[in-house]
Amino acid sequence: MRRFLPICAIAVALVGGVACSHTSGPGSSAKPTAFGAALVESSGGKQTGGVGAALAQPVVVQVNDDQGNAVPNALVAMRGPAGVVFDPAAGLSDSSGQFTTNVTLGFSPARYQLSATTATKANKAVELKIEEIGLGYQQTLGSQLNDQYCSRCHNSESTPERVSNYDNLEVKPHPFTEGDTLNKMSDADLTSIISFGGPALNKSPLMPPYGYTLTKAQTQALISYIRMVSDPPYGVPGVVHVEK
Ligand code: HEC
Repeated sequence: MRRFLPICAIAVALVGGVACSHTSGPGSSAKPTAFGAALVESSGGKQTGGVGAALAQPVVVQVNDDQGNAVPNALVAMRGPAGVVFDPAAGLSDSSGQFTTNVTLGFSPARYQLSATTATKANKAVELKIEEIGLGYQQTLGSQLNDQYCSRCHNSESTPERVSNYDNLEVKPHPFTEGDTLNKMSDADLTSIISFGGPALNKSPLMPPYGYTLTKAQTQALISYIRMVSDPPYGVPGVVHVEK
């Protein structure tokens, strides 16, 4: 412990009062010159990423005044469950009122509730909750199988690598995030339709059977993935909250 003290002291001397904590970025020492009344999510929420890994997109939040106009130079601070790292963890909103941070998720497969806060002129905290999804090993495998076999029909959007077949289908499949439909199906139902195709549940034969293509473990991985990404959440999801 004693060996760390001088390093800490040097760091403080160099950047001027930054606390020696891995969650505090350089921005946390910045002094706000403006205050907002509201925080809104610009982008980066509801991402799906591997546990312990950085999310593909940064999280961007915007500070607004009570008229809905962007407020530059307001302080924004991020907090998350144990294990989540923000880079930076706090800082001032830029000229368009936005604060951008890169997020690395913790190590449990779960829905991660993150929180961004800013203070009003009256020093009242305004909080915005943001959710991200951390996929464990099995769900990551399911996500890859989905890309390989399912998303060309179950995702209506095309990407440069994959042209969606969705528009050609007479009966429309649901995106796996559509919890209102998928949460009503039991694990046994999902296993049946994936293994034997649509007709197994009196549905369209446009849903092909995968019983010969996928192993039991792969089907299980797909179900685990589908359960994790569903919105609203399936059953009692593993949610990890901001540390108090
Ligand atoms: C060729 C297109 C196509 C592919 C590829 C495909 N599906 Fe489907 N899927 C459908 C269609 C069409 C339906 C809707 C059937 C109905 O409602 O009658 C469907 C329905 C389903 C349903 C029931 C819920 C819903 O969306 O209505 C599940 C679960 C499902 N598919 C899982 C999968 C999985 C897992 C894969 C990949 C292993 C996959 N599907 C690949 C076309 C496809």
